[in-house]
Amino acid sequence: MTDPWTPYCAQVVDRVAETPDVVTLSLRFADPDVQSRYRFACGQFNMLYLYGLGEVPISIMDYQDGCLQHTIRAVGRVSRGLTQLQPGASIGLRGPYGNSWPLEEARGRDLLFITAGLGCAPVIAAIRRAIAERDSYRRLVIMQGVKHREDMLWQAQYDRWREVPDCQVLLAASEEKQAPFAWSLGMVTTLIDKACFDPDSATVMMCGPEPMMRASIRALEQKGVAAENCYFSLERNMQCALGLCGHCQMGAPFICKNGPIFRVSDVREWFLLEGY
Ligand SMILES: Cc1cc2nc3c(=O)[nH]c(=O)nc-3n(C[C@H](O)[C@H](O)[C@H](O)COP(=O)(O)OP(=O)(O)OC[C@H]3O[C@@H](n4cnc5c(N)ncnc54)[C@H](O)[C@@H]3O)c2cc1C
Ligand code: FES
Repeated sequence: MTDPWTPYCAQVVDRVAETPDVVTLSLRFADPDVQSRYRFACGQFNMLYLYGLGEVPISIMDYQDGCLQHTIRAVGRVSRGLTQLQPGASIGLRGPYGNSWPLEEARGRDLLFITAGLGCAPVIAAIRRAIAERDSYRRLVIMQGVKHREDMLWQAQYDRWREVPDCQVLLAASEEKQAPFAWSLGMVTTLIDKACFDPDSATVMMCGPEPMMRASIRALEQKGVAAENCYFSLERNMQCALGLCGHCQMGAPFICKNGPIFRVSDVREWFLLEGY
């Protein structure tokens, strides 16, 4: 366990430009002792500190080849600075924070992953884990929505997942005039009708824009999926990430401490209110 208050120095080992404004950074702690003590669970996030500019919460996309991977969209000062870093650059990194996807509780059940845009990043590690432990789950359904085909991240990986036994991969583009081959036209929610799963035995994990998650929750309820079995990940501005400053508070829960992953039945009342 690393000290949750301390940003430890981490080096950019690799940088992949995924799209014009999305970059994946592979990071390794400068201190091998910190590196060896670091552990995370699928769905958690780190605070990345760009020295002199500020700190932002970014989901842990995965851990591969001894590096933590973070996929970042340039939207403002800090995220833009992070996406411009080159291999060899240093940042501060503290974490991991937050809770994780319910992969243990979902053993023996169908798993549905519903994501849109960069909402896929916090879910990738969970999908990879489910596939690595394929026999522990029943059907897998992976749904991802983007606006345009060129916004799609990791197309080759999604294509490989189509080859996994009993794994349905459904992609949707909402702003294309013609659907690319093997895609659907429309929002990711339109894919729920095409998904093959048992509503009584399905656990759902989703992440994306909040209107998309509200629409997905309603569509899943119509299919008979209980709110107790649906989970989603929320994003809010954060500062401490430790449940102390109140920046991320949403009703009673603090997103950093009680989330970012919530069970729909626990928060349905306020989350389904538009504009909450
Ligand atoms: C738990 C968690 C996980 C996250 N994971 C990722 C990730 O994997 N990849 C990624 O690119 N981003 C992720 N984010 C969002 C990321 O933290 C924000 O984009 C970042 O804080 C923006 O900071 P900035 O200084 O670059 O922009 P700012 O100048 O602070 O803001 C620029 C614009 O982005 C909006 N914005 C700021 N923070 C957020 C936020 N948290 N959510 C939505 N909009 C925001 C602002 O309203 C403003 O319009 C995550 C956020 C949280 C809370
Ligand atoms: S970020 Fe400070 S309480 Fe959540």
